[in-house]
Amino acid sequence: MIQADLLIHSAAQLLTLASDGPKRGAAMGELGIIEHGAVAVKDGLIALVGPTPEVRGQVTAAEEMDAAGKVVMPGFVDPHTHLVFAGDRAGEFEQRVKGAAYLEIMAAGGGIMSTVRATRAASVEQLVEESRARLDRMLAHGTTTAEAKTGYGLDVETELKMLEAIRRLDAEHPVDLVPTFLGAHAVPTEYQGRADEYVDLVVEEMLPMIKSQISNPKSQIFCDVFCDEGAFTLEQSRRVLEAARALGFGLKIHTDEFRPLGGARLAVELGAVSADHLVCTPDDEIELLARSDTIAVALPGTPFGLGRHEYTPARRIIDSGGALALATDLNPGTCWCESMQFIIALACRFMKMTPAEAIVAATINAAHAIGLGHQVGSLEVGKKADVLVLDIPDYRHLPYRFGVNLVDRVIKSGELACT
Ligand code: NIG
Ligand code: FE
Repeated sequence: MIQADLLIHSAAQLLTLASDGPKRGAAMGELGIIEHGAVAVKDGLIALVGPTPEVRGQVTAAEEMDAAGKVVMPGFVDPHTHLVFAGDRAGEFEQRVKGAAYLEIMAAGGGIMSTVRATRAASVEQLVEESRARLDRMLAHGTTTAEAKTGYGLDVETELKMLEAIRRLDAEHPVDLVPTFLGAHAVPTEYQGRADEYVDLVVEEMLPMIKSQISNPKSQIFCDVFCDEGAFTLEQSRRVLEAARALGFGLKIHTDEFRPLGGARLAVELGAVSADHLVCTPDDEIELLARSDTIAVALPGTPFGLGRHEYTPARRIIDSGGALALATDLNPGTCWCESMQFIIALACRFMKMTPAEAIVAATINAAHAIGLGHQVGSLEVGKKADVLVLDIPDYRHLPYRFGVNLVDRVIKSGELACT
């Protein structure tokens, strides 16, 4: 008999998402559903999963939770966020509604630079406080693990301050955070016209400095670069990513959001863990990506947030056998959205993903997109007990109903984190 701490039982559907690696192609349609399912938790980890009568036969539990009529599934993993920033850009949102383009606002010194100015002026305590409110909303909407990027500092001191804010939030908050260094997010105003010199600073000073600050990491640290029109060229992106790889960073890339510069091909060539955005990626690069181990991360909240009509061609990626993940891209410019539920709703409507594919993309594949596929993203024995109880009778309600929070309970590492 297993002496469990918690038994969640009688779920109408328990979605295990069990998988040896990221799910690709047709396998993205498989959720591993157990009807009348149960999951037992011990010491913060999953001890047993199965049909309720079978689990009951092997477990005694200190506490029980009845999930009758509900869906039980792994916590969402959000593998692409700009969680830490100061202030907001509500004024720019209004300008865009009136017709201004995102790249125009950026070229005029607004956009990312406007958040950089606010973030440079903020103390680390202020950054933690503003970001904590967002992290609370993420948890309330079912996210139990997330990636968090720097990239609103663009100088050594502020990039380190952002990393420190991520470290403090990870330490104090139930949501686990994986840090990503995004020093190459934009060319800061003081380097205008001298982008290559800024890349020198990123490569020669920031990367080694960031690397030396990460002691005994819980997870790998990643390096990301914004490879697009108005940001960094393909060659500049290659320099940053090659230098990061040599220092042991995992690699990520923002690419093909506005113009195709070849970033998806670069991601595959360098063995990046993920390539993100991929809105205007050419067909041959989609094919390359689909055949590689690099996970395609779609961010449908971003075109939605910008009021655009082009989305990542998820069908082509999945039908070519690729592994696709979903993320919020939470940021103050293009997509201030903390809810993976809303992202799933968008993915089904605008990217024609099935409900099952979108759920796979928001859990097990998202976990692999940040190198944590062995710890989270599915309900399997030995993984973290990050479990959602959803107030719906069938998983298809998750994308079908939108604009409200369908989470009934969030269990993080075996503890009730949110009701
Ligand atoms: O992923 N595209 C680049 N970076 C963010 C937007 C950042 C901002 O506007 O503050 C993104 O969409
Ligand atoms: Fe982003």
